[in-house]
Amino acid sequence: MSSQNAQQFAQKWYDIVMSDTITEDTAKMISTETVTNFVDHFNRGWVEYRKSVTEAGDYAGTEWRGVGSKFYDVFDNEYIDCLGGYGALDLGWSHPEVVDAVKSQVGRSGIPTQELMDPLRGALAALMAKITPGNIDHSFFVNSGTETIEGALKIAKLYTGKTGFISTVKAFHGKTQGSLSVMGKKDYRKGLQPYGSQNFFVPFGDADALEKQLDICKTVGIDIAAFIAEPIQGEAGAIVPPDNFWPRARQICDDYGILLIADEVQTGMGRTGTMWGVDHWGVTPDIMCTAKSLGGGVMPIGAFMGSAKVWKAFEEPNPFIHTSTTGGNPMACAAAIAAINVTLRDNLPQKAAENGAYMAGKIEELAKKYPGIYNRITGKGLLIGQHFNDAEIGYKVASGLFKRKVLVAGTLISAHTIRFEPALIITKAEIDEVLNRLEDTLKEVV
Ligand SMILES: Cc1ncc(COP(=O)(O)O)c(C=O)c1O
Repeated sequence: MSSQNAQQFAQKWYDIVMSDTITEDTAKMISTETVTNFVDHFNRGWVEYRKSVTEAGDYAGTEWRGVGSKFYDVFDNEYIDCLGGYGALDLGWSHPEVVDAVKSQVGRSGIPTQELMDPLRGALAALMAKITPGNIDHSFFVNSGTETIEGALKIAKLYTGKTGFISTVKAFHGKTQGSLSVMGKKDYRKGLQPYGSQNFFVPFGDADALEKQLDICKTVGIDIAAFIAEPIQGEAGAIVPPDNFWPRARQICDDYGILLIADEVQTGMGRTGTMWGVDHWGVTPDIMCTAKSLGGGVMPIGAFMGSAKVWKAFEEPNPFIHTSTTGGNPMACAAAIAAINVTLRDNLPQKAAENGAYMAGKIEELAKKYPGIYNRITGKGLLIGQHFNDAEIGYKVASGLFKRKVLVAGTLISAHTIRFEPALIITKAEIDEVLNRLEDTLKEVV
């Protein structure tokens, strides 16, 4: 493409970005061209397996705008969002206070100088210290969940002087190299190993297995820096561990002199009915990671956090051992400050607990009424796992809901378990509407 063509192409899309409304013809163009752009220039596979394309009819489901628990495609069809960016939309779409905070900040400065002191980074770090458990009082900000895991593994190695990690089977911690080294799912590891450090996996929720693995490592002389786990496994299907798991894991890590890392990228910020997943069991990890909803569904931002003692490993001898040009930029910090303010002021963790108990209870009732579909329902708060008897049934439920304008996860190649992760601000009326549409779908699937 010539540079003149490229400029015209850029101009066309810039004009679309800047327009308040779009005509039906423009909507058709956007939908058609988006599919072509994905196939020719992004990743054909994303188009071939998504139900928004395969089940869509003439035009692929193409998202455009959203507000609260609802979003609209380019043709202005309204959907209730129960996928919620896999936990990134705790505050729903375009929360007005977060949007305003970002707009206000971006007009002043978007990216820091990296030399002068940037106040919002400091304020957000101080704020995180006020909302994290126990003695966790230091934070480092990045742009995504996987980067928080990279940072957590790095500081754990530096602090302990050891290199190995223990993780859990079916764990999901992100897809960059360090995160993949503790990823508990073979589909994402295949073809990418080895990762460098000696890592081991134990069944999630099995404290005895953790202790045994540490004992083996000690006996054979393999040094372990930390045990890492999600408080409630998200990607694995909202799997809640036995109640004694986290307190015992804490004790075992102390006994063996290793660090405990909680990956709260998905469970953090109130999703499971408490501010942090570990709060269900009153446990303070040594290092905690969060991302997704930290930016209020408006800006990408992640944080990994730890105590002053652990943080020494980042401060001495080289305070620049870990840096990021864009991580913790003023726009992202403004969004996170606004998001935390809304989360605390509007008691969103409590709302998640109440609405989650209501929604999961009703799905259990539907599972009994329409037997043969569900294997079990799991989760806490508004992280609800629907486990189907087989993937084909799961896909029928996911695509049936999509046709009825309720968005849930589940693709042609992955629908055995589907999570419901609506906005924590979802109303009772919206939940009831989702349940009605779910019942209609189940009737059809039966
Ligand atoms: C528990 C957990 N950790 C880490 C990640 C990676 O986050 P990101 O996709 O922002 O890199 C995810 C993403 O789903 C997650 O659920």
